[in-house]
Amino acid sequence: MTEPLKIGLAGLGTVGRGVARIIENNGSEIARKIGRPIEIAAVTARDRNKDRGYDFSPFPWFETPAELAEKADYDVFVELVGGEEGAALEATRIALKRGKHVVTANKAMLALHGQELALLAEQNKAGLLFEAAVAGGIPIVKSLKESLSGNRIERIYGILNGTCNYMLTRMQNEGKDFAEILKAAQEEGYAEADPSFDIGGIDAAHKLALLTTLGFGTVTSFDDVYVEGIENITPEDIRASDELGYRIKLLGVAVKTEDGIEQRVHPALVPKDSAIGEVSGVTNCVCVDGDFIGSVMLIGPGAGEGATASSVVGDIIDTTRQCGDAVFTLPASELAPYNRAPLRAHEGGYYVRLQLHDRPGTFAAIATRMAEYGISLESIVQRHSDHIAGDSSKGSEGDPAQVVIITYQTTEQAVSEALREIEKDGHIAGQPNMIRIERL
Ligand code: NAP
Ligand code: HSE
Repeated sequence: MTEPLKIGLAGLGTVGRGVARIIENNGSEIARKIGRPIEIAAVTARDRNKDRGYDFSPFPWFETPAELAEKADYDVFVELVGGEEGAALEATRIALKRGKHVVTANKAMLALHGQELALLAEQNKAGLLFEAAVAGGIPIVKSLKESLSGNRIERIYGILNGTCNYMLTRMQNEGKDFAEILKAAQEEGYAEADPSFDIGGIDAAHKLALLTTLGFGTVTSFDDVYVEGIENITPEDIRASDELGYRIKLLGVAVKTEDGIEQRVHPALVPKDSAIGEVSGVTNCVCVDGDFIGSVMLIGPGAGEGATASSVVGDIIDTTRQCGDAVFTLPASELAPYNRAPLRAHEGGYYVRLQLHDRPGTFAAIATRMAEYGISLESIVQRHSDHIAGDSSKGSEGDPAQVVIITYQTTEQAVSEALREIEKDGHIAGQPNMIRIERL
C-alpha cells in the first residue's frame, strides 16, 4: 500500500483546526489528487487539555513545535503557531534543516526572516510555501510566482487585512463602536493573537513586504514599509465620507518609482462605486499592474478558518508536486537589494475633519487660510451634533461644530501647514483628522 503523506501540525487554533477539518472531510478527494492517502501524523500546541471544538486526542502529541519538528515522523511541517520569532521560527528552522517541506501562514515570521528561511529551504531542497500568509484564501502568492511571472510588475496594492475591512464595514453599516466590533472580529477568528497588529496596520505591512519581494524580486524588508493603522478612524469619519461619495479602506501599496520602491499602508478614502470601494467585510483584494498583463484584481476571503486552511491545504498538496525550488519568484540568493523610495508627497485630495469653535466668520477664515496655501476646496460641509451622535438633539450654541473638508489635489505639507495656521488663529477645538483620498 502507498505510504500516506504525513503532516506534522504545529498550532491547533483557528487555522490548525481548519486544516484538520479539511483533511477529515476531503481526505479521500485529496488522496485521489496526490495519489496517496493524507494523514495527520503529529500535533502540538501550548495546552494539551484545551477544548478546541475538534478532537485532536487521537493524534500523537509533542510538547513543543521544536520537538515535533525535530523528532516526529512527517513529510510536511505545517507551522500555524504564529509570531515573528520564538517557537514558530525555531521549529521552522529545524524542519528545513531536516530537509522537510514547510507550509506556513505566518506572514510576521516571513516578513522579518523571509530571505534567511528561503536560503535554508533552497539549500536543503525543501519547499517553503506560504499562500495563506497573504490575503487568506486569495491565491495571490502562486499568481505572482507562476502566472504573472513573465511580467515586470509596476504596482501591487489592495486591501490586505480582513479584520480592518470587517471592522470598517460594520462601523459603516451599523455605526457600532470600535471596541465592540473588534471583539466580534476576534470571535470570528479573523484577528491576530495581538489585534493591535491588525488595527495598527502592521499585519497588512507584513503582507505588503512579502508581496513586494514576490512582485519585484527584492529582499524582504518590513522596516521599509510606512505604516498607519485605523485606530483614529471614527464612525463620524465613516459617515461623513459616505455622504461625500467615499469609503474608508486600509490600503497597502507597493509601487516602483524613479527613486526605488515605495511601500505604504494607511487608511485612505476611495470612491465608493470603485471596485475597491465595494470590497466589504472580511473580503480582501489584491491588484497587480504588470507591463504586459495590464491590471489584474483578485478578490476573496482574507481571513478566517475555512479560507485560510484552504490555502494551507493547497500548499500541502503542492509539496507532492514541484517543490524545493525558489521560495519567492527568484532564488533567495538572487533577491536584489533596492532603494527605499521616500514616501512621495501624496498627489491627490484630502479629507479633513475639524472640530471648530462655532463662531461667526470661522468658515470664511478657514477657506482663506486654505487658499493662502494654494488649496482648492471641493466641498466644505458643517455637520451638526445631531448628525454626529445620530440622535435628534440639536447641538447648542457654543458647542464645537464638526466641519468636513474635501480638497482638490494638493500636498500633505500644504494641508498640514494650513491646519497649523488655522489652529494658531484659535479656530480648532479638537485634533483634526486627515485622510488621503486615493483614486486608484
Ligand atoms: P490561534 O488561533 O491563536 O492559534 C495559534 C495556535 O498556536 C494555538 O493552538 C496555540 O496553542 C499555538 N501556540 C501559540 N504559541 C505557541 C507556543 N509558544 N508553543 C506551542 N504552541 C503555540 O492563531 P490562528 O488564527 O490559527 O493563526 C495561526 C497563524 O496563521 C498565524 O501566523 C496567523 O498570523 C496566521 N493566519 C491566520 C489567519 C486567520 O484568519 N486566523 C489568516 C491567515 C494567516 P494553544 O491553543 O494551546 O494556546
Ligand atoms: N488577522 C489577519 C487579517 C488574518 O485579519 O487579515 C489573515 O491574515
